[in-house]
Amino acid sequence: MTHRTPRFIQTHQSDSSAERSIAIAQLAGEPARIAPKFFYDKLGSHLFDAITELPEYYPTRTEAVLFADHGAEMAQRIGAGSTLIDLGAGSCAKAARLLPLLDPVRYIAVDISADYLQEALRRLQREHRGLDIIGVGMDFSQSPVLPAGLLSERARPLFFYPGSSIGNFTPGEAEAFLAGIHAQASGGGLLIGVDLVKPVAVLEAAYDDAIGVTAAFNLNLLRHLNRLIGSDFDPRQWRHVALFDTAESRIEMHLEARVDVAVHWSGGMRRFGTGERIHTENSYKYSVGSFDALLARAGFRSTHCWRAPDDAFAVFWAEA
Ligand code: AVJ
Repeated sequence: MTHRTPRFIQTHQSDSSAERSIAIAQLAGEPARIAPKFFYDKLGSHLFDAITELPEYYPTRTEAVLFADHGAEMAQRIGAGSTLIDLGAGSCAKAARLLPLLDPVRYIAVDISADYLQEALRRLQREHRGLDIIGVGMDFSQSPVLPAGLLSERARPLFFYPGSSIGNFTPGEAEAFLAGIHAQASGGGLLIGVDLVKPVAVLEAAYDDAIGVTAAFNLNLLRHLNRLIGSDFDPRQWRHVALFDTAESRIEMHLEARVDVAVHWSGGMRRFGTGERIHTENSYKYSVGSFDALLARAGFRSTHCWRAPDDAFAVFWAEA
């Protein structure tokens, strides 16, 4: 038996001075906004994990049920022997559950930092000794183009993008992102989880839960900013707001000033009037038809979709 070990490639260089200027420019903009990637410091990542345990936040568990109930049929349609590319792999838990069904020859776990992937991939290698495992540290949200040489002719590429993370992109950005995946997926395809439009009360509760975990997740951004740009935000002066915009088909999250606020950072400051907001996240919701159309515009030729009861969530298999 061959004894393989995971390989690691890091292409993203975290440039904190560039990150700082982007965050400051967004904060000073009209209206103020902060990109959702700033949610995910250490505490923010833990708070997101806590969100997925909330009764109101249905996407994670609904998607898990779809994979558990239909994973074998998905694998049958997709076929064994692929290169599985896991976008936003993190703990690799979702892919780990599918590995026995999908039976790929190579597993490429992609996340912002290859370091985060080390432990999970070493554990996975012990459970799948013959699997060729590669951890890639890259900011795929900027561009999904993988480092050259990782996709081979012989093993069909199978991109995996679960969790409805696609919802953080505008539909235009999502189309460009999906087209970028399509361009690398020839002979294979994309398995993607997508949250669907549903009654506003259900959507808004999922992003404004009763015990305030999502509020903490949103407010934690201010603490992260304080560390990143040296600002003096007091989270107690801000309130979590989550609302569904039907025309845009998206949940918007904002932080709203409870009082008049003056925020300072090294080299600048900004005032917020009472009720003024910082836009922190969009989470777009699709119908099966509108997401099918998006996949078609991105170049995918055929799709199959598995839907949860009440069309709460869908997993699409799109052939490139
Ligand atoms: C990780 C982007 C899929 O939009 O549902 C959860 C993030 N924000 N609660 C989502 C999130 C607030 C989540 N995604």
